[in-house]
Amino acid sequence: MPACARTPEPCEFMPDDFFRRHSPDDIFPHNHPLEIDLGCGDGTFLIEMAQHYPERNFLGVERLLGRVRGVCKRIQALGLTNAKVLRLESQYTLEWLLAKHSVSRLHLLCPDPWPKARHHKRRLVQQEFLTILENVLTPDGEFLFKTDHPEYFEWVCEEMDTFAQSGGKFSQLPWPADGEQDALFYPKTDFQRHWESQGKTIHRLRYQR
Ligand SMILES: C[S@@+](CC[C@H](N)C(=O)[O-])C[C@H]1O[C@@H](n2cnc3c(N)ncnc32)[C@H](O)[C@@H]1O
Repeated sequence: MPACARTPEPCEFMPDDFFRRHSPDDIFPHNHPLEIDLGCGDGTFLIEMAQHYPERNFLGVERLLGRVRGVCKRIQALGLTNAKVLRLESQYTLEWLLAKHSVSRLHLLCPDPWPKARHHKRRLVQQEFLTILENVLTPDGEFLFKTDHPEYFEWVCEEMDTFAQSGGKFSQLPWPADGEQDALFYPKTDFQRHWESQGKTIHRLRYQR
């Protein structure tokens, strides 16, 4: 084992090779639809989804080792076999690690809005990201996005419009509120709970490829 390698946590997905694409059955033993929680944080959403949908597989992507360890502990304690965490950079994961057209739903929930103008280039949702997303989603795959930040919400709407105008494949879907007909089972994330406790509104967007 190279000196820099570490032993993966139980329930962590540690790729055998970071320079090849992985299909869903490289990650999970059961070939169920694969959903990705990009920047999964403390894993609250990932775990509740995995408990609710045993017939789907959930991979959290998170760059902070402490958070990865925490989520893995919770997955293991609950005995979930359909949830894992990958410690890797988000965009690299979508662009290079996952097989093309392998992801049925991609959740990007309360990502850092990078509010300062000089940091806007760090925002994840940009034209390049949308091209990568289009390539990794299944033909009818979905992209679900939430933010507490009104200006980032407008930014994402504009990026999606620009992408559509240049031939991108996404079309917006309704996202019925809790209690409405066809409401999605969609647990709140840790950050959503935090922002709502401060009186902030959560904005959401749902697109289909
Ligand atoms: C603002 S938190 C939101 C966490 C969670 N989605 C929630 O709503 O509670 C953003 C998370 O994404 C992770 N993150 C940020 N940039 C990332 C990147 N480029 N690659 C992987 N993880 C990233 C952070 O470490 C953090 O845990």
